Amino acid sequence: MRQTGNIWPGLLFVAAIALFGQCSSYTGKSLLTIFFDGVPEEDSLALHPLAPDVVSGDSVLLTGSDVDSEPGMMVHYPYEERDCGACHDPQSLGSMVEPQPGLCYMCHEDLGTLYEYLHGPVAGGYCTSCHDPHMSENEHLIRIVGNQLCFYCHREESVASNEMHMDLDGMECTDCHNAHGGDDKYIFQ
Ligand code: HEC
Ligand code: HEC
Ligand code: HEC
Ligand code: HEC
Ligand code: HEC
Repeated sequence: MRQTGNIWPGLLFVAAIALFGQCSSYTGKSLLTIFFDGVPEEDSLALHPLAPDVVSGDSVLLTGSDVDSEPGMMVHYPYEERDCGACHDPQSLGSMVEPQPGLCYMCHEDLGTLYEYLHGPVAGGYCTSCHDPHMSENEHLIRIVGNQLCFYCHREESVASNEMHMDLDGMECTDCHNAHGGDDKYIFQ
């Protein structure tokens, strides 16, 4: 039951490149050049803005003082502990002690050992395209909830045009697909 005339990979590629090109404050650009062959023209990007990071600016870097003052926030444990140096190079906060995904695997299980196939952004080390490394109002530090997380990179029209998705009727993408990986390339749950 594979569909034919599938054009989504091209669209997805553009969307993914757009995302990776944009949220590149630290690791994006360098990973981008490893992961993909070319860096896209900035103006070819049609992006949904990511939820802005809660932490920004040097005052926060210096004090970390608002860590406890965000009611209702899920705070990432090392951030809550103000263990900024677990991830950021203390000499140069713009550099990470390790690029993703290795940065995350210092403390979390290597997803590559759990799944035969990894979802593209997991394999590529773009954990923070879906998770906020500091805190989020959403469970699991997710940046965008529900199917919109998927539509950030996968064009909604192209997903909808797949006959497998004709009758989703309010289902979540993650009812069928796993966000991290699976037994085959369709990363089913
Ligand atoms: C678990 C790893 C981790 C910890 C711990 C961490 N950060 Fe970050 N931080 C990141 C990553 C990764 C980025 C890159 C931006 C992104 O991917 O969202 C970042 C980005 C930033 C930025 C740039 C603005 C932004 O939010 O994108 C600031 C400022 C910052 N961190 C401050 C801190 C401070 C202060 C602490 C300690 C209280 C801290 N970070 C702890 C991983 C971490
Ligand atoms: C210094 C250790 C450390 C690093 C580095 C680290 N984490 Fe964590 N993370 C933790 C701890 C401790 C917890 C809380 C315990 C748990 O839920 O596993 C946590 C929790 C989480 C959760 C929430 C888990 C849940 O069930 O809600 C997510 C998502 C997460 N981390 C993602 C990341 C990502 C993405 C990175 C890399 C950018 C990262 N972590 C790097 C230590 C770390
Ligand atoms: C495409 C979006 C996406 C990417 C990329 C992603 N995650 Fe997740 N992650 C999720 C979602 C959604 C959940 C919530 C649980 C679920 O639905 O499977 C989650 C849950 C988690 C959890 C908590 C629950 C669990 O499975 O232990 C951790 C820890 C985590 N992710 C770490 C990571 C790390 C590390 C990376 C990068 C190697 C990563 N994630 C990349 C979407 C993503
Ligand atoms: C950060 C961008 C990004 C996000 C967010 C994202 N994906 Fe993906 N997804 C990709 C990339 C990149 C690939 C790999 C495409 C390739 O290999 O050609 C991919 C591949 C897939 C595939 C396999 C398709 C195939 O034919 O190989 C499925 C299924 C999928 N994603 C579902 C989801 C679901 C469900 C979500 C939401 C939970 C999601 N994606 C969120 C970037 C993303
Ligand atoms: C009822 C289960 C189910 C749900 C819910 C579901 N999918 Fe799928 N998805 C499938 C099946 C089945 C395939 C096709 C696998 C094949 O072609 O062999 C697929 C294929 C895909 C592919 C690769 C082929 C393509 O069309 O590009 C992507 C990407 C994808 N799904 C994303 C999503 C997203 C995003 C959502 C949420 C809007 C979603 N899926 C919801 C079952 C589901």
